[in-house]
Amino acid sequence: MLKLSGVSKTFNKGSINEQVVFNNFSMDIDEKDFICVLGSNGAGKSTLLNIISGKVRADGGNIILKDRDVTHDTEHEKCKNISRIFQDPSLGTNPSMTIYENLSMAKNKGKRFGLSFLIDRKDEEYFKELLSTLHLGLEDKLYTPVSQLSGGQRQSLALIMAVIGEPDLLLLDEHTAALDPKTSEIVMGITRDIVEEKGLTTIMVTHNVDHAIRYGNRLVMLHRGNKIVDISGEKKNTLTKEKLLTLFKDMDDKSLFS
Ligand SMILES: Nc1ncnc2c1ncn2[C@@H]1O[C@H](COP(=O)(O)OP(=O)(O)OP(=O)(O)O)[C@@H](O)[C@H]1O
Ligand SMILES: [Mg+2]
Repeated sequence: MLKLSGVSKTFNKGSINEQVVFNNFSMDIDEKDFICVLGSNGAGKSTLLNIISGKVRADGGNIILKDRDVTHDTEHEKCKNISRIFQDPSLGTNPSMTIYENLSMAKNKGKRFGLSFLIDRKDEEYFKELLSTLHLGLEDKLYTPVSQLSGGQRQSLALIMAVIGEPDLLLLDEHTAALDPKTSEIVMGITRDIVEEKGLTTIMVTHNVDHAIRYGNRLVMLHRGNKIVDISGEKKNTLTKEKLLTLFKDMDDKSLFS
């Protein structure tokens, strides 16, 4: 459903700050794949998501999404089909607006005309129903500004907002990294439930090796812009931290496992 072929990206080309991130990178992603992406700092994980979402334009190669060449589509053109959540909880939601307004905005994403925040009873019921699936009590806080929510509540709301328009692809960039361990587990559980229930094709970047092993059907490890591990199916189901570490015994960088 998503095919990256021969993608290359160099930042600051020709300057002393030149940074080759990808050189002829290819990857095929199947419908309903839930891919966990691991990799050390600077491996190119966020850049990969940026290239897919159109935030960063690749220098070469092409990207096919659902049989359509989207290589040159802008981020705005892609945002209806590709949803994204970042590490920072304040990026996925608008803190000065209420939960209702945030959900209403997400529901109307990509619509041509200005938004109307007149309360629609049908939406109110629908939003309450969606929020109740989180089991965080947010269905009783529909008119509370998002700034008053905790990081975990915000990321959970961001998840609901990201999938409300039934995107083709969900991109998660360390979306639980800023949360305390307990909340991170809760948000991961919510993530898995939403991805499974909606059958979403998902790419989740994480530094949490346990999460990468526990969640998803495929694990990819990036190192200096290359896929050095790509495990799926039964191999992924039976993967352990120890097994993953043995794949690294010849690698100099073990910081991920520290
Ligand atoms: N907009 C940019 N301009 C210049 N260099 C960039 C830009 N974005 C990323 N880079 C560089 O590209 C390389 C890959 O960065 P990227 O953010 O993709 O890494 P990452 O794998 O997400 O790392 P982390 O785990 O720290 O988030 C880094 O060396 C980074 O400095
Ligand atoms: Mg990153």
